[in-house]
Amino acid sequence: MKALVLAGGTGSRLRPFTHTGAKQLLPVANKPVLFYALESLAAAGIREVGVVVGTYGREIRELAGEGGAFGLRITYLRQSRPRGLAHAVSIARDFLGDDDFLLYLGDNYLPQGVTDFVRLSAAEPAAARLLLTPVADPSAFGVAEVDPDGNVLRLEEKPENPRSTLALIGVYAFGPAVHEAVRAITPSARGELEITHAVQWMIDQGLRVRAETTTLPWRDTGSAEDMLEVNRHVLDGLEGRIEGKVDARSTLVGRVRVAEGAVVRGSRVVGPVVIGAGAVVSNSSIGPYTSIGEDCRVEDSAVEYSVLLRGAQIEGASRIESSLIGRGAFVGPAPRLPQAHRLVIGDHSKVYLTP
Ligand code: DAU
Repeated sequence: MKALVLAGGTGSRLRPFTHTGAKQLLPVANKPVLFYALESLAAAGIREVGVVVGTYGREIRELAGEGGAFGLRITYLRQSRPRGLAHAVSIARDFLGDDDFLLYLGDNYLPQGVTDFVRLSAAEPAAARLLLTPVADPSAFGVAEVDPDGNVLRLEEKPENPRSTLALIGVYAFGPAVHEAVRAITPSARGELEITHAVQWMIDQGLRVRAETTTLPWRDTGSAEDMLEVNRHVLDGLEGRIEGKVDARSTLVGRVRVAEGAVVRGSRVVGPVVIGAGAVVSNSSIGPYTSIGEDCRVEDSAVEYSVLLRGAQIEGASRIESSLIGRGAFVGPAPRLPQAHRLVIGDHSKVYLTP
């Protein structure tokens, strides 16, 4: 079985980050979210992986390379515009040939991996096999109706009035019949070729479309809130390890990872926390559930349940919480007078001020 990982798209809900980079490269515990997907494909025994990329293809290729580090062989496929998940499948036609494949949306995070799903898909072939999970807000996802035997009866993409609570997780197994399906459909109201519509076409043709339902944790990392939650989840499984320098005036509580080349001075760090290489934390209180990226600087500040990307700086911030702070961003004290907030923020940034 091959895999097709989708790492293009616009990521509009993750602006401003997606103005300058791919959402699939945003870090979770200081590792790109896409890498968790690639690792789980390798763990499931898949070797041949196509990665569909858009605007930030070069950056993705530079980081993931030929795939050798993951035990994979990666072929990059360029999608000129994000014209939908089914369109991404259509541009991979030559790479996929007539092989069965796993379609994996590169912004989805499944801590349990895909090994069981891949095994089942190989053991009981179907034209399509979907992975579903009950959610509180089905209208934000593809939604499936399933009969008691696990056959999918009907699918809708982000319906206003969902007929079930079962959302499509971004992992699908397909046989070669999907290629005819993606050619047969037309763009949806939002102008995309929807994979949901392609699967509905297969159902309408009388093909076998099966569903597996799981209640194991899953997250689409489409928004800042989702990123913070996935970061929390990954940090929960973190093992502490101190490779950098921690001075005698600092206290570390619980599982804290301080990478080689990082420095912690006069600070209290309450795990789980990861501090990346080259980062300096001084006279501050960090954690829990916080990832400090490489080369960040945090001084005289308190930071909790947050993610700082590479090179971010925080100075004199009495308390920062639930925040996602971009590469090289600076948060610091304003002059005493006038007593006012001073903002130099990029397009589509969000700032929440306390009174
Ligand atoms: O996360 C699960 C949901 O993913 C499913 O429940 C929905 O049925 C499915 O349509 C999809 O919805 P999203 O609106 O979240 O899809 P998104 O636009 O975020 O794209 C998913 C991934 O595919 C993301 O990594 C970007 C990539 N992508 C997207 C498009 C539209 C591409 O590579 N090319 C594209 O053309």
